Amino acid sequence: MTTLITNIKQLLQVRENHIEKVSGKEMADLPLIENAFLLLQDNLISNFGSMENLPKINPDKTIDATGKIVFPAWCDSHTHIVYAGNRVQEFVDRINGLSYEEIFNRGGGILNSAKKLNETPEEILYQESKLRLEEVMQQGSGAVEIKSGYGLTVESELKMLRVIKKLKENFPVAIKATFLGAHAFPSEYKENHAAYLDLIINEMLPKIAQENLADYIDAFLETGYFSIEETEKILEAGKKYGLPAKIHVNQFTAINGIEACVKHEALSVDHLEIVTDEDIEILKNSMTMPVALPSCSYFISIPYTPARKMLEAGLPLALASDFNPGTTPSGNMNFVVATACIKMKMTPEEAFNAATINGAYAMGISETHGSITKGKRANIIISKPVTSFYQLPYQFGTDLIDNVIIEGKIIR
Ligand code: NIG
Ligand code: FE
Repeated sequence: MTTLITNIKQLLQVRENHIEKVSGKEMADLPLIENAFLLLQDNLISNFGSMENLPKINPDKTIDATGKIVFPAWCDSHTHIVYAGNRVQEFVDRINGLSYEEIFNRGGGILNSAKKLNETPEEILYQESKLRLEEVMQQGSGAVEIKSGYGLTVESELKMLRVIKKLKENFPVAIKATFLGAHAFPSEYKENHAAYLDLIINEMLPKIAQENLADYIDAFLETGYFSIEETEKILEAGKKYGLPAKIHVNQFTAINGIEACVKHEALSVDHLEIVTDEDIEILKNSMTMPVALPSCSYFISIPYTPARKMLEAGLPLALASDFNPGTTPSGNMNFVVATACIKMKMTPEEAFNAATINGAYAMGISETHGSITKGKRANIIISKPVTSFYQLPYQFGTDLIDNVIIEGKIIR
């Protein structure tokens, strides 16, 4: 099956040669072709170029993209799409003055979601999660990382990861699974952290590895959650099972956690709302991708990741949604990109790079996703007619997507 997209006003993120990520000043450059064509063969990108060089072909399907922008589907490298119910009441409690921390200390927050998830049968959890995945696909996400971490018992962590596995099997989007048993200490382990670490390392991990349920390992390295020392134990255990790390760190406090993550060769460090100069120095010359989650900053009113400072220091940056019931009940990457431009002062070029190729890197798939490159997956967004791609983040909140193609199939 060949699909030819013609008369594309701007074809974005065109990379002739494979690149794995873009950093610092390079992020200001988003290579594009004006008045372009794009040819998809089955689930792969097979050719592209200027309309003047359109080869004589007889495609099975032609899409006329006059006035429209075409670019790689979003690569959302950080989500918690699998959860039960919602935390609407906590949302209202916060409006009425309670802080995220106060809600957690009262047994709400992550533990509230864990309680709900424990009571939810696997099939219902799958049905609830599936709706969210379908929603983000409609919003243009073509690759999604999904974490466990609302189970916090052996059985429920496995339940979450099995749901992620089923989503992988049933949906065309690329999905990576991350084990986040170290999301919070369950109340019965509040005074006995060692016992919960033992449960994660000696009970959960072996079973997860045996069923091959995870690609990555994560921990919430934060004051009041997992210490550096505790996180390092988890990372070392993960390494034994071949699970690289993607870590929640520096969301509320900077406690030198990034140093430990880089030392353990984490693939990504995520959140980074609070970043010190030392953290930036440590991230330089590392292979670790910093990941910002602006929708989380927006929703719970915490600082935004200091993108300008990081890019000026030469660092790469990825953008992801953090879709979860507590801090970010939205997986809309269009909003993420717009918010990065509006609130973090990233240029549209930088934000598109961060949400495509760098997002792909942060989930270990930049070989196959995140750019318009021959041989990469045919995961494509076609916009509505617009003046330029700048209009997408500018007109935040307006749905400017016409079509979404995933693995060569038009899903919207
Ligand atoms: O990435 N920070 C830790 N974990 C999630 C939110 C957890 C929750 O409140 O449910 C996050 O923001
Ligand atoms: Fe998260």
